[in-house]
Formats: sequence, structure tokens, C-alpha cells
Amino acid sequence: MEADRSVLEIWGKSQLQGQVKISGAKNAALAIVAGALLCPEDCRLQNVPSLVDINRMSQILEALGVKIERQGDILDINASQISSDRAPYEIVSQLRASFFCIGPILARLGVARVPLPGGCEIGARPVDFHVRGLQGMGATVQINGGMVHAYAPPGGLKGAKIYLDYPSVGATETLMMAATLAEGETTIENAAQEPEVIDLAAFCQSMGAKIQGAGTKKIAISGVAKLHSTDYTIIPDRIETGTFLIAGAITHSPISLAPVVPEHITPIIAKLQAMGAETIAVAPNQLRIVPAENHRATDIETQPYPGFPTDMQAPFMALLSLSRGSCVMTETVFENRMRHAAELNRMGADIRVKGNNAAIRGVPMLSGAPVVATDLRASAALVLAGLAAEGTTRIEGLHHMDRGYERLDLKLQQLGAKLQRVPADS
Ligand code: EPZ
Repeated sequence: MEADRSVLEIWGKSQLQGQVKISGAKNAALAIVAGALLCPEDCRLQNVPSLVDINRMSQILEALGVKIERQGDILDINASQISSDRAPYEIVSQLRASFFCIGPILARLGVARVPLPGGCEIGARPVDFHVRGLQGMGATVQINGGMVHAYAPPGGLKGAKIYLDYPSVGATETLMMAATLAEGETTIENAAQEPEVIDLAAFCQSMGAKIQGAGTKKIAISGVAKLHSTDYTIIPDRIETGTFLIAGAITHSPISLAPVVPEHITPIIAKLQAMGAETIAVAPNQLRIVPAENHRATDIETQPYPGFPTDMQAPFMALLSLSRGSCVMTETVFENRMRHAAELNRMGADIRVKGNNAAIRGVPMLSGAPVVATDLRASAALVLAGLAAEGTTRIEGLHHMDRGYERLDLKLQQLGAKLQRVPADS
């Protein structure tokens, strides 16, 4: 599936009904596909979402000599022969997560050359924690010409005590993967605790890796000589879950979602409850959203897990735009992740952004308008706003949406939303 240049037209107000299937977690799948580079035998991944970002990660592995076959939500990967240590620049520059490959490549081959991922719409997104951690494991790392050249010491990477200045998800994942094949013990302190980190650790453990403490601030890894085949199923996507919970709330539609892991979305449920919406567990892994008549405003501050997830900041801003009262949304994780506020204001929202704070004053209604998605989660916020707005909303920038949501438009159509993709020049 290639990036799509069409636009999405949404006719609001939409009423939704029925149940939506939640796909596998994008941010678990991306790390785990990179992690398959650690395995010198067949590796089967199940519940892999069909996303542009996953396709790009697969292209990177194929460029490294990996054999990959996709059937539906199954990816069969064989990285027994990694032919080169150079990930292709033109793909890495489009997919920041591909930098995670540096850990497995270095651990497997002892040498890795991966392009330095550029910044993106939401921030500079440096990789200094990744580099410093690999250096702590004995690697020599040189950065020049936009490339990161890393060389393991003779005998391979060595276990090390690593402290992360910030609980970076990507750095935790890169270093955890590298440590699975390093000699000796590695500890990662101030590690990220996201469910996707836990899923990656469970995937590596299913290949024979020795990892303790994933999901806590301190992860301990004992290196092994070799990993083996596995057949691993990826967790459901907690951010897609949150996005659909808001779709139900913002359209006042009691839709159901499955499969869901409720303990992965505690802050999302808590904030929906603070706004007056309820979520009811109708089965062990199925949730229904019960919207409020009018949602109350509530302050939100994004934090590393288990705090409120930054990836839900934009979707919640759409819902808060239509809430009763005023509130403040604070983004503490990325430095430039409020650009959707201006687009929501074009639809009649009343949001004033000052640095990383957005003062939101609820309005009684939004009006459809032509808007532009500035990043992945901003695209979701605009779709949600379009569902609730009076009139037609036309969203450009669907390539952002297709990176991280599996057929979001089709899933919404199946719930009764009135929307369609139309060619950009229509
Ligand atoms: C992961 O990005 C996710 N992506 C992001 O999801 C998510 O928003 C983010 O974690 C936070 O939860 C994937 O998992 C593929 P970080 P990552 O390293 O790993 C700074 C989405 O919408 N930092 O935890 O890149 C960084 O600049 C995407 O699905 C350094 O300074 O995030 C940021 O301010 C967006 N140096 C903060 O840490 C480093 O070496 C958190 O970044 C690494 C990070």
C-alpha cells in the first residue's frame, strides 16, 4: 500500500453504531519487525496491522537481505542471511522507527550503518540516548554525512549499566534488543514502561532472550549466544482503541470495540470518565463507550507511560473542543505537537496555543471546513472533529493517517459514518 494523495470528505453530523475491530498495535509491530533481525531462523508474527509504516519497515529488512512474506495479518520473516549492514536512506528518512534496526543489526553483524532519522512534524526527535547506550555497550559510533556508523568491539557488544536521561520508548527498545545478544548483563534504568516495550520484550523472550523487568523503570537483560524461531501475536493497538472511544463520545454513539486490553488504556478511560463518558466492559476484551449528554472540560497533561499518552493528545483535543467549560492541554513529550489546534480552529474551535500549552474553550458546535492533517495523530483529530461537525469537512494529508491507522475511513464507514475518499483534484 503506498501513500495515498486523495482527500477525505466527511459529512457531519454522523451517528455511529455497532462494533469495530481493533487492529494490532503499530508501535509494537514496528519494534518487533525490527526485532526479527535478531533471529537467524524463521519467525512468524501475527496480528500485524496493514500500514504504510509496516510496509516501509519490511522494505528496509528486505534491503538488508531478509526474506519477508505477508498473508493477511501474518508476516513470515527469515533473517538467517543479512546481506548488508546498510539500511536504505530513502526509506529510513521516511520512517523514524527504522532507526531501531541499529540495535539488532549491530548485535548480529558487529557493524551497522543506519541513516540518522531526520526530525518530523512533531519535533527534532534526536537519537542521542540510543547512541550513548550503544557506546556504553562498547560500540564505536561515528555520525557523519547523515549516517550513523556503529562498530561493536572485538567479541561483540558487552553488557552495561545504562541510565536513560528520559524514558525514551525507542531508546529502551533499541538497547534492549542489542543487549539480548551482548556478552553479560545489561540493565536499563529509567526505562520506558509502555505496553509496546513489554510486547517487544515478550517477543524477544519467545525467541529465547533473557529479559526481566520489562514494563518497569528497570530492565535487566542477560545476553545469550543465539535466538531461535518463534510464532508471536502482537497486542491490540491502544491508541486506535482510544481513537475509536473518542469517535463514540464525540458523536454521542454507544459503539463497541474489540479486542481491547483495558489495562493499557487506564488514563484514556479516566479522562473520558472525568468528562462524563463511561466505558463498560461487555466481555473480557470488549469495551462499549457510553457518551455523556454533554461532556465536561477537563485538564490533560501528556506524560510517559503510565501517564496520559502523547499520541492521544490530538484526538482528545477534538473532543475537548466540544466540551462544556474551559481546560488546558499540556504536551510535555514532544516540542511541536499542537499544530492540529489551528486546523480545529478553522472548524470553529476556540483553542489558544502558547508554547506547549493549549487553552481550550468548549464551543457548542463545529462547522465542516477544508483542513490539512499535519501529522499522524492530527489526522485522527480532524477526522473525529469532522464526524461531529455540521456540514462537510475535507481533509488533506491522508498519507499521515495511512501510516498509523489501518483503514480508519473504512472502519468508520462500517460504523455508519458518512465519509469517503475522493481524488485530490475532485
Ligand atoms: C515512540 O516514539 C512512538 N513511536 C511514538 O508514536 C510515541 O509518541 C513516543 O514513543 C512516545 O510515547 C514508535 O514507537 C514507533 P521517545 P519515540 O523516544 O521512541 C526525546 C505515533 O504517533 N528523545 O519516547 O521516537 C524525543 O525527542 C508515534 O504513533 C531524545 O531526546 O519516542 C521526545 O521528546 C509518534 N533523545 C522524547 O524523548 C533520544 O535519543 C520521547 O521520545 C530519544 C528520544
